[in-house]
Amino acid sequence: MSGSMLSAIHVILGVSAFILPVRPLDNGLALTPTMGWLHWERFMCNIDCDTDPHNCISEKLYMEMADVMVKDGWKEAGYEYVCIDDCWPSMARDSQGRLQADPKRFPGGIKKLADYMHSKGLKLGIYADVGTNTCAGYPGSLGHYDIDAKTFAEWGVDLLKFDGCYMPKWTLLAEGYINMSRALNNTGRSILYSCEWPLYEWQFQQPNYTAIQQTCNHWRNYADVFDSWNSVTGILDWTADHQSLIVPVAGPGGWNDPDMLVIGNFGLSRDQQQTQMALWVIMAAPLLMSNDLRDIDPTSQDLLQNRHLISISQDPLGKQGNRTAKVNGFEVWQRPLSGGRLALAVINRQEIGGPRSFPLTLALLPSWRCCNLQCNVTQILPQYQEMGVHSLFSKLQVLVNPTGTALLVVSPVKGKPYTRPQAKKWFYYLKKDKSQSILL
Ligand SMILES: *[C@@H]1O[C@H](CO)[C@@H](O)[C@H](O)[C@H]1NC(C)=O
Ligand SMILES: *[C@@H]1O[C@H](CO)[C@@H](O)[C@H](O)[C@H]1NC(C)=O
Ligand SMILES: *[C@@H]1O[C@H](CO)[C@@H](O)[C@H](O)[C@H]1NC(C)=O
Ligand SMILES: *[C@@H]1O[C@H](CO)[C@@H](O)[C@H](O)[C@H]1NC(C)=O
Ligand SMILES: *[C@@H]1O[C@H](CO)[C@@H](O)[C@H](O)[C@H]1NC(C)=O
Repeated sequence: MSGSMLSAIHVILGVSAFILPVRPLDNGLALTPTMGWLHWERFMCNIDCDTDPHNCISEKLYMEMADVMVKDGWKEAGYEYVCIDDCWPSMARDSQGRLQADPKRFPGGIKKLADYMHSKGLKLGIYADVGTNTCAGYPGSLGHYDIDAKTFAEWGVDLLKFDGCYMPKWTLLAEGYINMSRALNNTGRSILYSCEWPLYEWQFQQPNYTAIQQTCNHWRNYADVFDSWNSVTGILDWTADHQSLIVPVAGPGGWNDPDMLVIGNFGLSRDQQQTQMALWVIMAAPLLMSNDLRDIDPTSQDLLQNRHLISISQDPLGKQGNRTAKVNGFEVWQRPLSGGRLALAVINRQEIGGPRSFPLTLALLPSWRCCNLQCNVTQILPQYQEMGVHSLFSKLQVLVNPTGTALLVVSPVKGKPYTRPQAKKWFYYLKKDKSQSILL
């Protein structure tokens, strides 16, 4: 082959590689962030049904949670998936090499449980592991991806959380997750695929997020969430530190997963619960609650079911937000929304003192330019409040409790053009803004 022919081929290949869009996993699912309930953080590996029948990992737990989800407005609010985590299977596969549920704790089996969920208009999630064992030591799927995918599909499972423990060599992680993705696709049933691939690969190298986005519907990046403020801030800090890498890959079909919502449990104050909800919504995160819906306080329930927050979460533009400023013990996070709107969260990270006020000015928030000429501001948290129409020059303040968050939605509105003196003032503001570099 001549050199010129070779270079012509290179050009063609180069061009086609350039114009081929990077496509997220196409199974028709997770077009907006997944909403549901997942047992792990609250119920862990409690398998002692003799002494703790109310809280042990058994079919009864998921059925009761499903009943409450329908009865108490969770389903109506959008929470749909009821998800099993680790510790559901029997320690041994059946005679045909299939996973089977622990017969004592799941006497009806998983298919019956899936049927139960579907009869209520809900969906069932299950858990397995890419390696030889699950994290709690139950049988893993390595070497059984095809049969396990087929079994889950036959049972009518709707979501698979695929953990990353006990992979004999970390270099096999990518291959394992990709193989399972293919195995799920081959079943012909659309099964939402929740991965932990990057979390396990980060210990060794920076994961390939393009490949991850093509393989999974969401992916855990960082450590398990605990029922504590320290854990929530750890996740936020990690996310902000890696945002230039992970935010661009999120979108319809594939999302970064900062782990479960722990709202309604024991460790977060009311303000901290609002911060978790506001920031999970800004991060376009799956909203998978891990709490006891049979016994949850009304304040937490109202927060988790807040329709303004859920509509930000499920915004059709499907863009993840990021941290855009860090100033004076405050953090500002923003998420672009459909219709040119913006969700804006101001966290008070100072853990001492009382409520502090944060001025919404062009100097602190260049995105406040969306208020040129005018914008309509609605506060969602800490309480709903329509703040009216504002401009670049409005003196707007939000008051934020320590460890709490103010969440606003800012919508551009058409206004009258500025008068000459206003325009002059505007130029002055912009100039002043340039001289302040509090931007990240
Ligand atoms: C399998 O993958 C193909 C190609 O991406 C896609 O069109 C199809 O919908 C997928 N099927 C399922 C069941 O996920
Ligand atoms: C993935 O699938 C390929 C092709 O079938 C196979 O060669 C490889 O061993 C599999 N890897 C894992 C970790 O299952
Ligand atoms: C990452 O994965 C994508 C998709 O599989 C691939 O095209 C690309 O070459 C990979 N990048 C690196 C640096 O390995
Ligand atoms: C945040 O995301 C926007 C796009 O939505 C981008 O323009 C901006 O540079 C990002 N900011 C930071 C600090 O990464
Ligand atoms: C501002 O937004 C609120 C809440 O969505 C709405 O009720 C109000 O009509 C809006 N005002 C204007 C001028 O657009």
